[in-house]
Amino acid sequence: MPSGLRAGQLPGRLGLRRTGQKTGVPGERFVLAGVVKHGGIAMAAQVAQHELILSRRMARLGTETAFEVLSKAKALERKGRNIVHLEIGEPDFSTPPHIVEAAVDALRGGWTHYGPSAGLPELRDAIANYVSRTRGVVVQPDEVVVVPGGKPIMFYAMLALVDEGDEVIYPNPGFPIYESMIRYAGGTPVPIPLREERDFAMDVDEMASLITPSTKLIILNSPQNPTGGVLARADIERAAAAIGDRNILVLTDEIYSRLQFEGKPFSIMSVPGMKERTILLDGFSKTYAMTGWRIGYGVMRADLAAQITRLMTNSNSCTASFTQRAALAALNGDQSAVDTMRLEFERRSRAFVAGLNRIRGFSARMPKGAFYVFANITGTGWASKPLADALLEEAGVAALSGTAFGTYGEGYLRFSVANSMENLMEALARIDAWVGAHV
Ligand SMILES: Cc1ncc(COP(=O)(O)O)c(C=O)c1O
Repeated sequence: MPSGLRAGQLPGRLGLRRTGQKTGVPGERFVLAGVVKHGGIAMAAQVAQHELILSRRMARLGTETAFEVLSKAKALERKGRNIVHLEIGEPDFSTPPHIVEAAVDALRGGWTHYGPSAGLPELRDAIANYVSRTRGVVVQPDEVVVVPGGKPIMFYAMLALVDEGDEVIYPNPGFPIYESMIRYAGGTPVPIPLREERDFAMDVDEMASLITPSTKLIILNSPQNPTGGVLARADIERAAAAIGDRNILVLTDEIYSRLQFEGKPFSIMSVPGMKERTILLDGFSKTYAMTGWRIGYGVMRADLAAQITRLMTNSNSCTASFTQRAALAALNGDQSAVDTMRLEFERRSRAFVAGLNRIRGFSARMPKGAFYVFANITGTGWASKPLADALLEEAGVAALSGTAFGTYGEGYLRFSVANSMENLMEALARIDAWVGAHV
């Protein structure tokens, strides 16, 4: 702290006395004036305080509650509380060493400069090969755009395609950024409810009934966040048939495709006639435990890829070059770590579901993929948000209210099993004890 300031008094603006004067300038509320001392030197200061006037579109932007609950839990930890973190959706594993090595080599080798906005040609090529192989369609490198994470594909696709009045059908409960981005782009969100009795797979007939002449985009997500539901091949084929030859695009979020517990994942991109109307979102965050590296990609028709690339040029310029070199090593290297993680998430999910089903008022189905357990809590008599808050504050277990994923998430809590078995068992014991006292 600079000398000359009293204890508790901060330098700069906070050290000033507010005069309350109006300036007469629209949006300018008052003027702060006074004397501050910096390093023993007295300075007269007058600072205009301007009201923050945001664009109207900012009022339509939502958020991802997981990050808010995480910071609330961290604040409790700073006060000395012990919290079991089951709120955040990221693998607890470290990035496999050969991927880290590739990044270190890339940094040493000078991959520290701008690259092409759509991604390094060798990575676009490798992704095109990977998607061609796994989805059984021929994908060219110019149909691939590399971006910093899977999320930007949602953001860019919505900005590039959705106009005021366009309808976008999306899963609810579902990843909260879908609804946020639909609204932000000016579109109308049209939820497809996902129901527990259908194992959280969408009802295709219901989806078909939601299609109107204003439908611009349909979002699919399998395996699904937050429910762990999976779309069966037959349902995906029926969904494609319901779309028929309409000019509707499908954004298929397959970020958890390598974390499906049973059977092979199936993409709507593989349905004959759908490739040109599909935007495939995939990435490295969940598959290779690379959430903090920020790298993902979209695969789509080349003319749309060129537009998404323009959005990249306008926002990020490009994805970090050394991160892309690491992603190349991830795709081309040993895949055994992916299998290890998938098996471990399945094992933990099974144990956690079994434990929850022994707790009064809770019931849960075994998820079919990803690393979340979406538990029905209606038997507790509590609403989701107050229950999530109480479990955090009173039991020391951080989970997310189902309503963080949309209105149809009421009655549920989402637990991430991306934590050790020991911590998961501890969480169950804490919830059970809390329920014993409060339900
Ligand atoms: C369904 C879904 N899609 C996309 C993402 C975003 O992934 P990334 O961290 O690569 O942006 C997530 C992350 O939680 C997700 O759950």
